[in-house]
Amino acid sequence: MNICIRPETPADHPIVEALTREAFWNLYRPGCDEHYLVHVMRSHEDFLPELAFVAEVEGQIVGSILYTRSWVVNELGEKVETATFGPLCVHPAWQRRGVGTALIEHTKALVVQQGYPAILILGDPHNYCRHGFRTGKDLGVCSLDGKFPLGLLVLELRPGFFAGHQWKLHTSAVYGFDPALVEAYDARFPAREKKHQPSQELFSMLVRSVVE
Ligand SMILES: CC(C)(COP(=O)(O)OP(=O)(O)OC[C@H]1O[C@@H](n2cnc3c(N)ncnc32)[C@H](O)[C@@H]1OP(=O)(O)O)[C@@H](O)C(=O)NCCC(=O)NCCS
Repeated sequence: MNICIRPETPADHPIVEALTREAFWNLYRPGCDEHYLVHVMRSHEDFLPELAFVAEVEGQIVGSILYTRSWVVNELGEKVETATFGPLCVHPAWQRRGVGTALIEHTKALVVQQGYPAILILGDPHNYCRHGFRTGKDLGVCSLDGKFPLGLLVLELRPGFFAGHQWKLHTSAVYGFDPALVEAYDARFPAREKKHQPSQELFSMLVRSVVE
Protein backbone atom coordinates (compact mmCIF):
# COMPACT_ATOMS: atom_id res chain seq x y z
CA MET A 1 0.00 0.00 0.00
CA ASN A 2 1.44 3.35 -1.02
CA ILE A 3 0.94 5.95 1.75
CA CYS A 4 1.67 9.56 0.77
CA ILE A 5 2.24 11.96 3.66
CA ARG A 6 1.89 15.59 2.58
CA PRO A 7 1.28 18.99 4.24
CA GLU A 8 -2.35 19.87 4.91
CA THR A 9 -3.72 22.65 2.68
CA PRO A 10 -6.77 24.90 3.30
CA ALA A 11 -8.74 22.86 0.73
CA ASP A 12 -8.27 19.81 2.98
CA HIS A 13 -9.86 21.41 6.05
CA PRO A 14 -13.47 20.22 5.56
CA ILE A 15 -12.28 16.75 4.53
CA VAL A 16 -10.04 16.46 7.59
CA GLU A 17 -12.83 17.61 9.92
CA ALA A 18 -15.23 15.03 8.44
CA LEU A 19 -12.54 12.35 8.66
CA THR A 20 -11.87 13.24 12.31
CA ARG A 21 -15.57 12.96 13.11
CA GLU A 22 -15.70 9.58 11.39
CA ALA A 23 -12.67 8.25 13.28
CA PHE A 24 -13.72 9.44 16.76
CA TRP A 25 -17.49 9.08 16.60
CA ASN A 26 -18.76 7.18 19.67
CA LEU A 27 -15.23 5.99 20.42
CA TYR A 28 -14.47 7.87 23.64
CA ARG A 29 -17.92 9.33 24.39
CA PRO A 30 -21.34 9.25 22.69
CA GLY A 31 -20.69 11.35 19.58
CA CYS A 32 -17.36 13.18 19.66
CA ASP A 33 -15.85 16.65 19.85
CA GLU A 34 -12.48 16.14 18.16
CA HIS A 35 -13.72 17.49 14.81
CA TYR A 36 -14.69 20.73 16.57
CA LEU A 37 -11.27 20.85 18.18
CA VAL A 38 -9.65 20.53 14.74
CA HIS A 39 -11.89 23.31 13.48
CA VAL A 40 -10.91 25.81 16.19
CA MET A 41 -7.31 24.69 16.50
CA ARG A 42 -6.12 26.01 13.17
CA SER A 43 -6.84 29.64 14.08
CA HIS A 44 -5.37 29.35 17.58
CA GLU A 45 -2.05 31.03 18.38
CA ASP A 46 -0.59 27.74 19.63
CA PHE A 47 -1.28 25.85 16.39
CA LEU A 48 1.84 24.67 14.54
CA PRO A 49 0.78 24.78 10.86
CA GLU A 50 4.14 23.52 9.60
CA LEU A 51 3.38 20.21 11.37
CA ALA A 52 -0.14 19.73 9.96
CA PHE A 53 -0.06 16.70 7.65
CA VAL A 54 -2.48 14.40 5.89
CA ALA A 55 -2.00 10.83 4.71
CA GLU A 56 -3.30 9.92 1.27
CA VAL A 57 -3.90 6.48 -0.18
CA GLU A 58 -5.00 6.20 -3.79
CA GLY A 59 -5.49 9.98 -3.87
CA GLN A 60 -7.91 10.00 -0.91
CA ILE A 61 -7.20 11.56 2.47
CA VAL A 62 -7.34 8.75 5.02
CA GLY A 63 -5.39 10.18 7.96
CA SER A 64 -4.50 13.43 9.70
CA ILE A 65 -2.12 14.71 12.36
CA LEU A 66 -2.14 18.19 13.90
CA TYR A 67 0.22 19.72 16.45
CA THR A 68 0.10 22.58 18.94
CA ARG A 69 2.87 24.02 21.04
CA SER A 70 3.01 22.94 24.67
CA TRP A 71 5.44 23.73 27.46
CA VAL A 72 7.22 22.01 30.28
CA VAL A 73 8.10 24.03 33.37
CA ASN A 74 10.52 22.78 36.01
CA GLU A 75 10.78 23.43 39.76
CA LEU A 76 13.12 26.38 39.06
CA GLY A 77 10.47 28.00 36.89
CA GLU A 78 12.40 27.29 33.68
CA LYS A 79 9.94 26.99 30.80
CA VAL A 80 10.71 25.13 27.57
CA GLU A 81 8.50 24.86 24.50
CA THR A 82 7.59 21.34 23.41
CA ALA A 83 5.32 19.89 20.73
CA THR A 84 2.02 18.07 21.24
CA PHE A 85 0.00 16.24 18.62
CA GLY A 86 -3.68 15.48 18.68
CA PRO A 87 -6.07 14.84 17.24
CA LEU A 88 -4.32 12.10 15.28
CA CYS A 89 -6.69 9.91 13.32
CA VAL A 90 -7.02 7.42 10.51
CA HIS A 91 -10.30 6.56 8.79
CA PRO A 92 -11.68 3.35 10.35
CA ALA A 93 -11.54 1.57 6.97
CA TRP A 94 -7.79 2.24 6.73
CA GLN A 95 -6.66 1.55 10.28
CA ARG A 96 -4.03 -1.08 11.18
CA ARG A 97 -2.15 -0.73 7.90
CA GLY A 98 0.61 1.61 8.99
CA VAL A 99 -0.99 4.99 8.19
CA GLY A 100 -0.88 6.26 11.79
CA THR A 101 2.73 5.14 12.10
CA ALA A 102 3.65 6.95 8.87
CA LEU A 103 2.07 10.19 10.15
CA ILE A 104 3.88 9.97 13.49
CA GLU A 105 7.26 9.05 11.99
CA HIS A 106 7.13 11.72 9.29
CA THR A 107 6.27 14.53 11.68
CA LYS A 108 8.58 13.28 14.44
CA ALA A 109 11.55 13.80 12.10
CA LEU A 110 10.41 17.39 11.46
CA VAL A 111 9.92 18.07 15.17
CA VAL A 112 13.50 16.91 15.76
CA GLN A 113 14.75 19.15 12.92
CA GLN A 114 12.93 22.10 14.46
CA GLY A 115 14.86 21.60 17.68
CA TYR A 116 12.06 20.63 20.06
CA PRO A 117 13.40 18.56 22.98
CA ALA A 118 10.31 16.36 23.22
CA ILE A 119 6.82 15.49 22.05
CA LEU A 120 4.30 15.23 24.89
CA ILE A 121 0.79 13.92 24.42
CA LEU A 122 -2.27 12.83 26.32
CA GLY A 123 -3.26 9.55 24.72
CA ASP A 124 -3.72 5.82 25.02
CA PRO A 125 -0.34 4.17 25.83
CA HIS A 126 -1.34 1.18 23.72
CA ASN A 127 -1.05 3.34 20.61
CA TYR A 128 2.21 5.06 21.43
CA CYS A 129 4.64 2.88 23.44
CA ARG A 130 5.84 1.22 20.26
CA HIS A 131 6.78 4.66 18.94
CA GLY A 132 9.11 5.23 21.90
CA PHE A 133 6.73 7.19 24.13
CA ARG A 134 7.26 6.64 27.86
CA THR A 135 5.17 7.42 30.87
CA GLY A 136 5.71 10.93 32.25
CA LYS A 137 6.45 9.31 35.61
CA ASP A 138 9.71 7.78 34.32
CA LEU A 139 10.93 11.14 33.03
CA GLY A 140 9.65 13.29 35.92
CA VAL A 141 6.89 15.00 33.94
CA CYS A 142 3.55 15.41 35.70
CA SER A 143 0.31 17.22 34.98
CA LEU A 144 -0.55 20.60 36.56
CA ASP A 145 -2.09 18.91 39.61
CA GLY A 146 1.17 17.06 40.33
CA LYS A 147 -0.21 13.66 39.25
CA PHE A 148 1.16 11.26 36.67
CA PRO A 149 -1.83 10.32 34.50
CA LEU A 150 -1.46 7.02 32.65
CA GLY A 151 -2.15 8.88 29.43
CA LEU A 152 0.58 11.51 29.88
CA LEU A 153 3.20 10.26 27.45
CA VAL A 154 6.59 11.67 26.58
CA LEU A 155 8.85 11.08 23.62
CA GLU A 156 12.25 12.44 24.56
CA LEU A 157 13.99 13.72 21.43
CA ARG A 158 17.04 15.21 23.15
CA PRO A 159 18.44 12.40 25.31
CA GLY A 160 18.67 13.35 28.98
CA PHE A 161 16.69 16.56 28.52
CA PHE A 162 14.39 15.92 31.49
CA ALA A 163 17.06 14.50 33.82
CA GLY A 164 17.66 16.15 37.18
CA HIS A 165 14.43 18.17 37.33
CA GLN A 166 10.74 17.75 38.02
CA TRP A 167 8.57 19.06 35.22
CA LYS A 168 4.94 20.01 34.74
CA LEU A 169 3.24 19.80 31.36
CA HIS A 170 1.24 22.82 30.20
CA THR A 171 -0.88 22.08 27.14
CA SER A 172 -2.45 24.72 24.91
CA ALA A 173 -5.62 26.44 26.09
CA VAL A 174 -7.21 25.36 22.79
CA TYR A 175 -7.90 21.93 24.32
CA GLY A 176 -10.07 23.61 26.95
CA PHE A 177 -12.83 24.59 24.52
CA ASP A 178 -16.41 25.08 25.63
CA PRO A 179 -18.25 21.75 25.06
CA ALA A 180 -21.51 23.68 24.58
CA LEU A 181 -20.17 24.96 21.23
CA VAL A 182 -19.66 21.48 19.80
CA GLU A 183 -23.35 20.75 19.26
CA ALA A 184 -23.94 23.74 16.99
CA TYR A 185 -20.82 22.95 14.97
CA ASP A 186 -21.78 19.27 14.68
CA ALA A 187 -25.13 20.27 13.15
CA ARG A 188 -23.20 21.11 9.95
CA PHE A 189 -22.55 17.39 9.43
CA PRO A 190 -24.98 14.62 8.45
CA ALA A 191 -26.96 13.48 11.51
CA ARG A 192 -25.50 10.41 13.21
CA GLU A 193 -26.64 8.35 16.16
CA LYS A 194 -24.81 8.92 19.42
CA LYS A 195 -24.54 5.73 21.39
CA HIS A 196 -22.75 3.98 24.20
CA GLN A 197 -19.88 1.62 23.33
CA PRO A 198 -17.54 -0.41 25.56
CA SER A 199 -14.57 1.63 24.26
CA GLN A 200 -16.01 4.56 26.22
CA GLU A 201 -15.70 2.61 29.49
CA LEU A 202 -12.10 1.82 28.71
CA PHE A 203 -11.40 5.48 27.98
CA SER A 204 -13.10 6.54 31.20
CA MET A 205 -10.81 4.14 33.11
CA LEU A 206 -7.78 5.45 31.26
CA VAL A 207 -8.40 9.12 32.05
CA ARG A 208 -8.88 8.30 35.75
CA SER A 209 -5.74 6.14 36.00
CA VAL A 210 -2.50 7.47 37.43
CA VAL A 211 0.97 5.94 37.55
CA GLU A 212 2.31 5.51 41.13
C1 LIG B 1 -4.87 5.39 16.78
C2 LIG B 1 -4.82 5.45 15.25
C3 LIG B 1 -4.45 6.86 14.81
C4 LIG B 1 -3.73 4.48 14.77
O1 LIG B 1 -3.68 4.56 13.35
P1 LIG B 1 -3.39 3.27 12.47
O2 LIG B 1 -3.21 3.71 11.07
O3 LIG B 1 -4.41 2.23 12.75
O4 LIG B 1 -1.98 2.84 13.09
P2 LIG B 1 -0.99 1.75 12.53
O5 LIG B 1 -1.61 0.96 11.44
O6 LIG B 1 0.30 2.41 12.22
O7 LIG B 1 -0.77 0.84 13.82
C5 LIG B 1 -1.91 0.26 14.48
C6 LIG B 1 -1.69 -1.23 14.70
O8 LIG B 1 -1.70 -1.89 13.44
C7 LIG B 1 -0.52 -2.67 13.31
N1 LIG B 1 -0.18 -2.66 11.88
C8 LIG B 1 0.40 -1.66 11.18
N2 LIG B 1 0.52 -2.03 9.90
C9 LIG B 1 0.01 -3.27 9.79
C10 LIG B 1 -0.15 -4.17 8.71
N3 LIG B 1 0.25 -3.85 7.48
N4 LIG B 1 -0.74 -5.35 8.97
C11 LIG B 1 -1.14 -5.68 10.20
N5 LIG B 1 -1.03 -4.87 11.28
C12 LIG B 1 -0.45 -3.67 11.06
C13 LIG B 1 0.51 -1.97 14.18
O9 LIG B 1 1.56 -2.81 14.56
C14 LIG B 1 -0.35 -1.57 15.35
O10 LIG B 1 -0.56 -2.69 16.18
P3 LIG B 1 -0.85 -2.57 17.76
O11 LIG B 1 -2.17 -1.83 17.90
O12 LIG B 1 -0.94 -3.97 18.22
O13 LIG B 1 0.32 -1.80 18.33
C15 LIG B 1 -6.17 5.01 14.64
O14 LIG B 1 -6.49 3.73 15.12
C16 LIG B 1 -7.32 5.96 14.91
O15 LIG B 1 -7.54 6.92 14.19
N6 LIG B 1 -8.11 5.67 15.97
C17 LIG B 1 -9.28 6.48 16.29
C18 LIG B 1 -8.90 7.85 16.77
C19 LIG B 1 -7.90 7.76 17.93
O16 LIG B 1 -8.09 7.04 18.88
N7 LIG B 1 -6.82 8.55 17.82
C20 LIG B 1 -5.78 8.57 18.82
C21 LIG B 1 -6.21 9.28 20.03
S1 LIG B 1 -5.18 8.80 21.43
